[in-house]
Amino acid sequence: MTVTFPAERTVLLTGAASPRGIGRATAFHLAELGWNVGIIDIDGIAAADTAAEVSRLHGVQAMGVGANVADREEAVAAVDALEAALPQIVAVVNFAGVSSPVPYLEVSPEEWTRVQSINLDGVHWITQRVARTLVRHGVGRIVGISSVSAQRGGGTFSKTPYSAAKAGVVGLMRSIARELGPVGVTANVISPGPIDTDIMGGTLTEERKTAMAADGVLPRIGTPRDIAAAVAYLISEDAGFVTGQTLNVDGGLYMH
Ligand SMILES: NC(=O)c1ccc[n+]([C@@H]2O[C@H](COP(=O)([O-])OP(=O)(O)OC[C@H]3O[C@@H](n4cnc5c(N)ncnc54)[C@H](O)[C@@H]3O)[C@@H](O)[C@H]2O)c1
Repeated sequence: MTVTFPAERTVLLTGAASPRGIGRATAFHLAELGWNVGIIDIDGIAAADTAAEVSRLHGVQAMGVGANVADREEAVAAVDALEAALPQIVAVVNFAGVSSPVPYLEVSPEEWTRVQSINLDGVHWITQRVARTLVRHGVGRIVGISSVSAQRGGGTFSKTPYSAAKAGVVGLMRSIARELGPVGVTANVISPGPIDTDIMGGTLTEERKTAMAADGVLPRIGTPRDIAAAVAYLISEDAGFVTGQTLNVDGGLYMH
C-alpha cells in the first residue's frame, strides 16, 4: 500500500538547537524542502530562536520548545505542544544526544544512567508519543541516530555507555519497524561517522579531523549536511519501502 503524504506536513526534530549541530542544519535543509518544523531541545531559548530563523528563511511554519527528552513527562508535553500548533506530524528524527568519553572502568552509575537516559530512553519517550499520532494517521517516518561508535566499539571520542546506548537505538528502531510497518509507519537509523560538530569535547582541530578520517575510505570527516541529506531521503514519501535499516553515513569507516 502506497500512502500519500498530506500537502502540509511537519517533521519533529529533537536536539536541533546547538549552533554547529547536525539537528540544526537538518532543520534548515528540511524546511528548504517544504517541511514544517518542530524542534525539541533542552535549550528552549535556542530551540525557539532556531525555529524562528527557519521560518523566516524558508517561509514554513516552525516552533521550538524546551524539554529534557530523558524526562518522559517533559518529552510528551513537548510533542503535545508542537502537535497542537503545527500541521500534521509525519516524521520524527531523534538527534538529541550527549557524548561520554569516560574509560569503562571509571564509568560511575550516574554517568551510565545519564547517557542511557538521554541517548536511548529519550529516543523511546519521544518516539512512542509521536508514533501514537503517526499510527492514528496511518502514515509516518521515524529516524533514530546511532553512531559508528556502536558498530566499531568506540574509537572516535565517546566510549562504552555511548556505544551501548547507540547500539540500543538500532534494536529499538528495528523492532518499531516490525510492529508499525503494517500500519504505514517506517523506522530507520542513520549511523554517522565523525561529523564536524562540537559534541566531541568542543570544536575539532584540523589535526583531530585528519586523524578521525584516517581509517575511512574518504579523506575527510563528515558535515552536518551529509547527515541532513540522508535524513531527507529516509523521511521522504519515496522512502516508503525502506524500513528497519541502518544507513551508514561515515565515509566508509564501517562497511557491512
Ligand atoms: N558529531 C558526530 O560526530 C556524531 C557522530 C555520530 C552520532 N552523532 C549523534 O548525532 C546527534 C547530534 O549530535 P551533534 O554532533 O549535532 O551534537 P550537538 O551537541 O551539537 O547536538 C546535540 C543536541 O542535543 C541537545 N540535547 C542534549 N541533551 C538533551 C536532552 N536531555 N534533551 C533534549 N535535548 C538535548 C543539545 O542541546 C544539542 O542541541 C547526537 O545524537 C550524536 O550522538 C554525532
